[in-house]
Amino acid sequence: MSHNTFGHLFRVTTWGESHGPALGCVIDGCPPGLRFTLGEIQAWMDKRKPGQSRFVTQRREDDLVKVLSGVMMDEDGETMISTGTPMSMLIENTDQRSKDYGEIARSYRPGHADFTYDVKYGIRDYRGGGRSSARETAARVAAGAIARKVVPTLNVRGALVQIGKHRIDRANWDWSEVDRNPFFCPDPAMVPVWEDYLDTIRKAGSSIGAVVEVVAEGVPPGIGAPIYAKLDQDIASLLMSINAVKGVEIGEGFASAELSGEENADEMRMGNDGKPIFLSNHAGGILGGISTGQPIVARFAIKPTSSILTERQSINADGHNVEVRTKGRHDPCVGIRAVPIGEAMVACAIADHYLRDRGQTGGRL
Ligand SMILES: Cc1cc2nc3c(=O)[nH]c(=O)nc-3n(C[C@H](O)[C@H](O)[C@H](O)COP(=O)(O)O)c2cc1C
Repeated sequence: MSHNTFGHLFRVTTWGESHGPALGCVIDGCPPGLRFTLGEIQAWMDKRKPGQSRFVTQRREDDLVKVLSGVMMDEDGETMISTGTPMSMLIENTDQRSKDYGEIARSYRPGHADFTYDVKYGIRDYRGGGRSSARETAARVAAGAIARKVVPTLNVRGALVQIGKHRIDRANWDWSEVDRNPFFCPDPAMVPVWEDYLDTIRKAGSSIGAVVEVVAEGVPPGIGAPIYAKLDQDIASLLMSINAVKGVEIGEGFASAELSGEENADEMRMGNDGKPIFLSNHAGGILGGISTGQPIVARFAIKPTSSILTERQSINADGHNVEVRTKGRHDPCVGIRAVPIGEAMVACAIADHYLRDRGQTGGRL
């Protein structure tokens, strides 16, 4: 595979498989002088790691990050300072169970990437899906932790806003609630509903889809590179690259099809400080591919986990019809753990564009 790198100036390459000894990333182009601790990176990793509640996969991985290069330790012995050289980070796989996957070594799980990987490469690491497994996204979250440091004002937060048909009530949105429940749910009233619902799905060995919303605040106005590297285009591309993502929208997204021009217009006024104020944010913080300075709002839809306990019709590598039932440990709703992954991808897209803007215009902060 030759497409394991994203970004132009903040350039991230990820490597590794679900059941290999380790996985990781290399960030090339990280600006020198960024200061961070391992604990700060680990905090984001801990949000994504498996086994944290009964609603996610019971695979046990500590996801401890090692920073192998690209940093110098400060005299305090804790703060790392980026040197501008390639930054390599490594996460070991410690809880692989290849025997869980013996039965699907030659059979294709419907809805998974087994069939297409075989068609394309003629060889497939069936243990946990190999490179197609979302285990790879641990490396993206590590890269995202560094990306957050590139833009000094940046604050990227994510939340789960829908599981199956159960949507949150946006009037109840409370960011502080997101870290208090196992779903990253911003609506406290929805938590017990999702608990009951997911328990039923989980006990049935089934799965369900979800919608994640990511909001990036503190994005300076003026970043984004029209017309073939619009900020919304690149955010959408990176979100779509996450496993199981089937839809991405920015701002009002698909709902804008139902709005009139009057409703959708983000009217403007001059603020008392001489800076423009937008009276709404239907655009999701991006106009003409360039950030407005308002919060950037992106949403993505995640399909239901394809590895389920119910038998489904499929075929195998020998060309026979088979029934497939996936044993092993799986997330009943992968949308939950996709929240920190979505945050990381948005942070990487913004960091890359921030540096590209600085390169072209010299920056304006
Ligand atoms: C956090 C996360 C965890 C996932 N865990 C599983 C899983 O346990 N079982 C599964 O079948 N798919 C899982 N997926 C989705 C698959 O990786 C994905 O559906 C597969 O690679 C096929 O790619 P596609 O859905 O993007 O077409 C997960 C996705 C994410 C984001």
